[in-house]
Amino acid sequence: MKAKHLVSISDLSSNEVQEIIDTAARLKAERATGRRQQPLAGNTLGMIFEKPSLRTRVSFEVAMLELGGHPLYLSPSEIQLGKRESIPDVARILGRYVDFIMIRTFAHRNVELLATHSAVPVINGLSDLSHPCQALGDMLTISEKLRRLRGVNLAYVGDGNNVAHSLLLASGKLGVNIKVATPSGYECNPEIVRKAQEAALASGALVSQTQSPEEAVNGADVIYTDVWTSMGQEDEREKRLAIFAPYQVDSKLVSSASPNVIVMHCLPAHRGEEITDDIMDGPHSVVFDQAENRLHIQKAILLLLAQSRN
Ligand code: CP
Ligand code: NVA
Repeated sequence: MKAKHLVSISDLSSNEVQEIIDTAARLKAERATGRRQQPLAGNTLGMIFEKPSLRTRVSFEVAMLELGGHPLYLSPSEIQLGKRESIPDVARILGRYVDFIMIRTFAHRNVELLATHSAVPVINGLSDLSHPCQALGDMLTISEKLRRLRGVNLAYVGDGNNVAHSLLLASGKLGVNIKVATPSGYECNPEIVRKAQEAALASGALVSQTQSPEEAVNGADVIYTDVWTSMGQEDEREKRLAIFAPYQVDSKLVSSASPNVIVMHCLPAHRGEEITDDIMDGPHSVVFDQAENRLHIQKAILLLLAQSRN
């Protein structure tokens, strides 16, 4: 991998995306045999969190520990990004102490600024615009469950949000056909759609959008959903609950997809809103295996960024 940071999947080549997934699969298989190497011994990861997290925090923390390194959790009240100190200054200072920086923040521009001014690799652990670590882990899950990526039909149903954006970009790079169903006014960012379509020209993926959940899931191998109200949008919750109600992933919607369809969710789930209990806990759901894969993908990201740094 040549990339110095992981800010967006659009910065990676198709080969780099595939390399991250393959490395994660290898590390996962090695971990299952009990073999533990510690290639990042002596390295420290600084993790800046401006929003809450379960999966991202714990998987990065454990990934770093299992690779022999040391994670450092920096809470919102600690750094006060851009308030107590400018983002370029935070980047310059952190780089004197740590070997990698992971950031979960609001404005995507914060991640870009940090990367521009950082001497060490910066990893986007979720911004309002994208969630690349999630989509990379999800592609590992799809390839494990369906034994292929190219030509898989993925239906994303719900809000055209950060998770949808990274899935679009990863699908475009890997030849996964993606149909995104959102209500009017909640479509994906047109620039992200354009980038996904551009990548799809080379991979052969089909990238499309609709307002109909039924149309999106018709012939789908994967149905994917996410919360209707993302972190930072809490004031819009009531309005969104009404608008998104027809986009719930329930047994009726799932029954109109392929019989072996898998159902995915990046989690945390708002059960009874975007996904029903019976689907989340039912035979199509792979959400917990999907969550586990965050650990393996974070390890691959850290390892490959360490190698491209050297
Ligand atoms: N999917 C995900 O990123 O979960 P957390 O918000 O718990 O990190
Ligand atoms: N779209 C969600 C994803 C959480 C992992 C959010 O941004 O809150």
